Amino acid sequence: MPHYVRLVYASRATFASAREGSGVEREIARILMQSRRNNPRDNLVGALYYADGYFFQCLEGEVAAVDTVYARIASDPRHQDVQVLMRQAISAPAFTGWAMKYGSIAGEVKALMARFGRREFNPYSFDEPVIAGMLDLLRSTPDVPVAVAEPAPVAPGASDARGRLSLALSVASLAVAVAALLVALLR
Ligand SMILES: Cc1cc2nc3c(=O)[nH]c(=O)nc-3n(C[C@H](O)[C@H](O)[C@H](O)COP(=O)(O)O)c2cc1C
Repeated sequence: MPHYVRLVYASRATFASAREGSGVEREIARILMQSRRNNPRDNLVGALYYADGYFFQCLEGEVAAVDTVYARIASDPRHQDVQVLMRQAISAPAFTGWAMKYGSIAGEVKALMARFGRREFNPYSFDEPVIAGMLDLLRSTPDVPVAVAEPAPVAPGASDARGRLSLALSVASLAVAVAALLVALLR
């Protein structure tokens, strides 16, 4: 029988927040895409929450796989002060089906903090009931899909072709306008 483990850690982002509109930050989106690509390969599941410069992540899977990914994550320069908050044996993962779920749950987390008499979201200070509350929230709220919009590479000649197409369209619409004018005048 496989030995499953749940590992929860806290860390602080080393990059400055650069939120555009209401979407997921670019750096977070990159991390999620990497996680969602790698974790199915390693039979890992879990959830990630990011707020106020802090990460709160739960990783679940077989012991060796969790330890391996945690070692990789802990040495990632995109965050620092990586600190394990909880590590427990589990009979089965709770985040089955989510390679790395991402919670956009600021309102719910604020309410949870208030319920536990906390003024701010600071995962380093979380005790077991708060961690359990966070995990419940992450489990029960919708996942956030992500995609990083990189500028599309322009194939050689593509911009020429695009230019020619838009010139042809302009000429065609000019011709239609002139024809319409002639019809109106000849009536
Ligand atoms: C907060 C945070 C969470 C991460 N979570 C995962 C994860 O769940 N799985 C994963 O493979 N990489 C995760 N990463 C990325 C790893 O640190 C590492 O960059 C990546 O696994 C390297 O994989 P690659 O060589 O396929 O790009 C995370 C990084 C950060 C900063």
